[in-house]
Amino acid sequence: MKQFISVKDVTNIDALVSKALAYKKQPLLDKQLGAHKRIGLLFLNPSLRTRLSTQVAAQNLGMEPIVFNVDKEGWALEFAEGAIMNGTTVEHVKDAAPILGNYFDILCIRSFPNLQDRSVDYSEHIIHQFIKYAGVPIVSLESATLHPLQSLTDIITIQESMALNPIFKSRKPKIVLTWAPHIKPIPQCVANSFSEWINAWGKSDFVITHPKGYELSTDYTKGAQIMHDQDAALKDADFVYVKNWSSYHEYGKVLNTDSQWMLTNEKLALTQDAKVMHCLPVRRNVELSDAILDGPNSMVTQQASNRVWAAQSVLSFMTFKDQK
Ligand code: CP
Repeated sequence: MKQFISVKDVTNIDALVSKALAYKKQPLLDKQLGAHKRIGLLFLNPSLRTRLSTQVAAQNLGMEPIVFNVDKEGWALEFAEGAIMNGTTVEHVKDAAPILGNYFDILCIRSFPNLQDRSVDYSEHIIHQFIKYAGVPIVSLESATLHPLQSLTDIITIQESMALNPIFKSRKPKIVLTWAPHIKPIPQCVANSFSEWINAWGKSDFVITHPKGYELSTDYTKGAQIMHDQDAALKDADFVYVKNWSSYHEYGKVLNTDSQWMLTNEKLALTQDAKVMHCLPVRRNVELSDAILDGPNSMVTQQASNRVWAAQSVLSFMTFKDQK
């Protein structure tokens, strides 16, 4: 793989999942693969899981990871073509990225959307400029519209859980992505990405449920059943993925904070004893109840722990600079 910013960069999801599960069994299986390679992890926004799991993954492969919190420690970057830089930005990405490409064999970037201008965010102009100017493979640590390392982790976690239940030898799982309330405008990245990966994986009956007005881009959801009645959507679900997102059509707006959409044990009773997923961080008792998060159906810790194996699998498939 020359880049990992979307499921479209992946030719074989099953191969990535198998490799991740192999690393889970034997973390140091390929401890020489990344010897003498250096990986740069650039954060323009905060992170706990992505930052630490990717470092651990790189170290398991023998790579040297270096983290740079660009938002706090770096010069303010400019991304606009032809910008007259007489304002707050200090360094243009077209000057910084080639230097970073010379320092590192792989560059990983986290950059959230601004949720102000949909056309700017959905053009993915930040990560695309790193791809254009860095000259080394780029891995998304969550971009303006997608979070592919999270989605690969989610499929690994679902597959692990399915392997423990013989029922899935004879039928597909029903997976429900449900919108949840939140107090702030949240990007659509995780929901978009989960949708495009589950659709590309093609091994489930996939339902997305949300209040009217929260329709995601059909670029990602095409193939899923969309329902506005959460209780009906949850019926017989095997996996429920809980996530808030702000409106795509009324871009970045919070249209609804209805607490009736928070997943509770009463709603879980509608499912087939579904496993509950969330990418974290989670607002307890806003998005998900304590009873669910602390209960037997929650997979959130397993899911977040699997971030290491997803990242390790992806890094193992990346093409290094001197292998081009
Ligand atoms: N799920 C996730 O990406 O977590 P962080 O924001 O903590 O990295």
